[in-house]
Amino acid sequence: MTKVNSSRTALDISEYYIPLDLAEVFGNENEIVLEIGFGDGDFLIEMAGRHPEKNFLGMEIKTKRFKIAMKAAQNEKNGNLRFLHMNANIAAEELFFEDVFSLVYINFPDPWPKDRHRKHRIVNSEFLGALSKIMKKDGVLEIASDDKDYISHSFDVFKNISFFKSQYPHPGYLHNLPNRPHTKYEKGFRKEGREIFYLMFTNNK
Ligand SMILES: C[S@@+](CC[C@H](N)C(=O)[O-])C[C@H]1O[C@@H](n2cnc3c(N)ncnc32)[C@H](O)[C@@H]1O
Repeated sequence: MTKVNSSRTALDISEYYIPLDLAEVFGNENEIVLEIGFGDGDFLIEMAGRHPEKNFLGMEIKTKRFKIAMKAAQNEKNGNLRFLHMNANIAAEELFFEDVFSLVYINFPDPWPKDRHRKHRIVNSEFLGALSKIMKKDGVLEIASDDKDYISHSFDVFKNISFFKSQYPHPGYLHNLPNRPHTKYEKGFRKEGREIFYLMFTNNK
């Protein structure tokens, strides 16, 4: 992991024991929301501003995007936002206690459209298994994508695991969620007139 910023929004895990005590990190016992692959961080910064009563943790693997998000969060005032520069696959397996997150967002995951690259898709049964463990029972997982193939791939994956239950009526997705901030990718896709798919699952572990 590259250390790129020492401001309080950057979570430096070398300062803590592993698994992380997130109540210690945030300095309170408030509910914790996780975003995987936050990109430029705009979604989580907006959510943290709207909800001072909750804590928000974002994970992003790309250094450049992490730095952009850190800069964008400079004026964050609530103290309830942390960005972690890390691969979410490793973090989900190794970094957290079980039953920690009440809500998890995966916004516009990399689609990996080529057949030989599909194994890189973050929505896969192994990752969802790790996610289920670190999420609270009945916690919510929201996924957003513009990619119909990724959506049907996701439903195939969820069909084969028992612990996440879809919450939206047939066909299992919505195209609009009022009041949900649009991410950078989402703004671009909407500008192009692309359909957006939102999925929601609860963790029935
Ligand atoms: C298509 S972009 C979407 C970014 C942002 N969520 C948005 O909607 O604007 C997908 C993001 O997920 C990040 N990502 C992909 N795999 C990841 C992983 N294993 N751990 C953390 N971040 C990851 C990528 O670096 C990228 O920033």
